[in-house]
Amino acid sequence: MAMNKESNMADMVVTPWEVGGVIDYGRLLKEFGIEPFSEVIEEIENPMHLMRRGIIFGHRDYFRIVRAMKEGKPWAVMSGFMPSGLPHFGHKMTMDEIVWHQRAGGFAHVAIADMEAHAVRGLSWEKVREIGEMYLKSIAALGLKPERAILYFQSSFSAVKDLAFELSAEVNWSELRAIYGFTPETPLAKMFVTSIQAADILHPQLKDFGGPKPVVVPVGADQDPHIRLTRDLAARVSLFAFEKLEGGVRIRSRKGGEYLRKLEKDLSFEFRSYAEHIDVFGDYEEIVEFVREKEVEMGGFAFIPPSSTYHCFITGLTGGKMSSSKPESYISLFDEPEVAAKKVKRAITGGRGSAEEQRRLGGEPEKCAVFELFSIHLIEDDGELEEIRSMCRNGELLCGECKKRASQMVEELLKDFRERVDAVNLDDYEVVWR
Ligand code: TRP
Ligand code: SF4
Repeated sequence: MAMNKESNMADMVVTPWEVGGVIDYGRLLKEFGIEPFSEVIEEIENPMHLMRRGIIFGHRDYFRIVRAMKEGKPWAVMSGFMPSGLPHFGHKMTMDEIVWHQRAGGFAHVAIADMEAHAVRGLSWEKVREIGEMYLKSIAALGLKPERAILYFQSSFSAVKDLAFELSAEVNWSELRAIYGFTPETPLAKMFVTSIQAADILHPQLKDFGGPKPVVVPVGADQDPHIRLTRDLAARVSLFAFEKLEGGVRIRSRKGGEYLRKLEKDLSFEFRSYAEHIDVFGDYEEIVEFVREKEVEMGGFAFIPPSSTYHCFITGLTGGKMSSSKPESYISLFDEPEVAAKKVKRAITGGRGSAEEQRRLGGEPEKCAVFELFSIHLIEDDGELEEIRSMCRNGELLCGECKKRASQMVEELLKDFRERVDAVNLDDYEVVWR
């Protein structure tokens, strides 16, 4: 991840509504304040292939998830899909991440962002319902188990809509403008869906869903503004705020001193009381967990700031960006398998101008859309992937042969996917959609 100050400074755009230019992931980490995933990977028992390969390149507070996994405490994974077009390989990546986390012990919450698609893209309710169902069937076909999962349409889920309203009381126009670049012409609904998304992310911590717990949100870095706002809101709507002290925690109340006085009555730790805060002495995590429990008893949210992981944007098969208006630039999960195989054969590669040249110089797998398919979707085994990489680099493998293998694998994957989708019965799942 080389940092280059001169190039790409002006043209990299990463916002929830637009992604463009050459993405410099080192710069993204720095500018957004995301932590590199490499610092937590050693703590994970059987890291997913996307983690091992650096495709999941960043995170926020993933250590909370690691700790909950190790201690066997409850935690959840949550993400959402905007049903504006059919699910493609980019969505498959997020779905695979949710499935992995569910298998690793998390409770899975999956949102169909039909309100977002309706407000931002102007799609009819019938349309978003129809497409949304295909997303749900897709994630089921990709291995999500009905046990420990809840799937929902935003528009049907009053827990989320009510929480969104509550959260929106803490957000004002200047903040939205600063985070999202909204203008006076921005429709209110487009602004409100930012609160809906924050509620998507926080609802697994509501009392009805088992109360405060670590929640990880796997997303692309374009969604980070939502994550930042949500982490902020989690703190703002909760009664107590925590600050690390030497040997303890300083606790403030965001909703008035009376909550501090109430809390003091139950504190089993050593503490010193002040008008505006309490200093409590002991183990940080123990104290915070205790106070969160008390907050829930007092009727507060006690939200834990959500964790997140960030995956790379996938490159289009045709070289530039993946674009929904260019079907040849991506593979849809619902493409005819033979059609998808042809797209792979036409993809741009990291190959050279001629076979002779490629034998001499070797290919460039890091620039190759086909190699990207292998590493994200087609090859689970690291040894097998490394073999392709090195054979490509030293010119032993030529693109024709390589693409043939990839296109066969894609064709098989999609055929298998079709069978699985046909076998899915959403009635086996807890789905909130009416
Ligand atoms: N805004 C997301 C997108 O455009 C979809 C989404 C809705 C989402 N709710 C979410 C993503 C909650 C993560 C978490 O893809
Ligand atoms: Fe890509 Fe394979 Fe060609 Fe290497 S040989 S550049 S991995 S298509």
